[in-house]
Amino acid sequence: MSIRKLDHLGKTIVFGQGSTHEVFNKIAEMKPHKIGLLIDRQVAKAYPNVLEEMLLRNGLDMLYYIDPGDVSKTLDLVVDIWEDLVKNGFTRKSLLISLGGGVVNDIGGFVASTFMRGLPLIVIPTTLLSQADASIGGKNGINFHGKNMIGTFYIPDLVVIDPVYIKSLSMEEVTNGIVEIIKHGLLGSETLLKFLRENRENIVNKEIDVIEKAILQSIKIKLSIISRDFREAGHRRILNLGHTIGHAIEELSHHTIPHGKAVAYGIRIAMRLGERLFGFKYTAKIEELFFDYGLPQDFPFKLDDLLDVMKQDKKNWYGKLVFAVPKEIGDIEMVSLEEEETRILLGDILENVSVNNV
Ligand SMILES: NC(=O)c1ccc[n+]([C@@H]2O[C@H](COP(=O)([O-])OP(=O)(O)OC[C@H]3O[C@@H](n4cnc5c(N)ncnc54)[C@H](O)[C@@H]3O)[C@@H](O)[C@H]2O)c1
Repeated sequence: MSIRKLDHLGKTIVFGQGSTHEVFNKIAEMKPHKIGLLIDRQVAKAYPNVLEEMLLRNGLDMLYYIDPGDVSKTLDLVVDIWEDLVKNGFTRKSLLISLGGGVVNDIGGFVASTFMRGLPLIVIPTTLLSQADASIGGKNGINFHGKNMIGTFYIPDLVVIDPVYIKSLSMEEVTNGIVEIIKHGLLGSETLLKFLRENRENIVNKEIDVIEKAILQSIKIKLSIISRDFREAGHRRILNLGHTIGHAIEELSHHTIPHGKAVAYGIRIAMRLGERLFGFKYTAKIEELFFDYGLPQDFPFKLDDLLDVMKQDKKNWYGKLVFAVPKEIGDIEMVSLEEEETRILLGDILENVSVNNV
């Protein structure tokens, strides 16, 4: 597939194998006064050539390594980066680049949008999850008394999606990404679900030409949703499918269960809510897809613990718990439930699945 450009709410996504080089063209066009790079420590190790080229071609006025994992998404870390930006004389004419998975890009988006009320930003996602989902739509967040409690909406000047980075991902990280792609399939396209089903072997073997097609379909579905509702006033909330429960599981596990895997549990519960409330018929078929990609069957939590965390979720609305619930593939309804209703419904659902507490 050749390199292509997609509209990202007025800004640009460049997509395709080898597109990392577009960064240099963009820098030449932007002529930033200074350049800072936030980089995932593991990515820096896996791609010394990319880092070296950035250093050689542009010189970097700030280089900041971020440790992998959601535990890095803290206000303390953000303050530390702000300090470095000040120390190195960054201004609104400077450029921030973030290179890494969803964690680094969430931090980068938040830092860029808040420092001096907005720095130019280039995002280079390197995990399947961040390429197929997190880097699209301009949402960012850090954890503060709860998952992604503080954040902004900020579309980067450029998002560069280069699927070659997927080659070095662990199988677990490929699976985490597949979860969000399955979610997009459920939100928008049976075709995408069929593609994931039929190409499982090529995808787990990390055949980039095949993965690239899945990422592109996933991005297009997300773009069509966010273009209708950038600030999540309504329609965009369907992207939270599986996230009310997923975020609670991430927190209960102290982030030892990664985002993708946690969201898979959330989607499985949401589908069961869909069965009970709207006669949703595809739970078994979609669960089979999750299991084919290596996701576990047991649910790792207790209902009471889950409810305690979910009550603090920012997606709640006037004291009710809010869930994105599928009625059909491509037809998702936002459902608000009282705590007691949630307890009864989820209690009933969990009675019929295998629970293995963390
Ligand atoms: N802003 C959004 O719209 C949005 C959407 C979905 C998820 N998220 C956020 O994204 C985060 C999860 O993102 P993630 O799954 O990318 O996690 P991550 O950024 O923690 O990356 C996962 C692991 O992969 C490693 N890694 C990254 N790129 C690699 C590569 N090319 N080769 C080898 N290893 C590599 C990292 O070091 C890390 O260990 C969560 O914090 C979640 O809340 C944000």
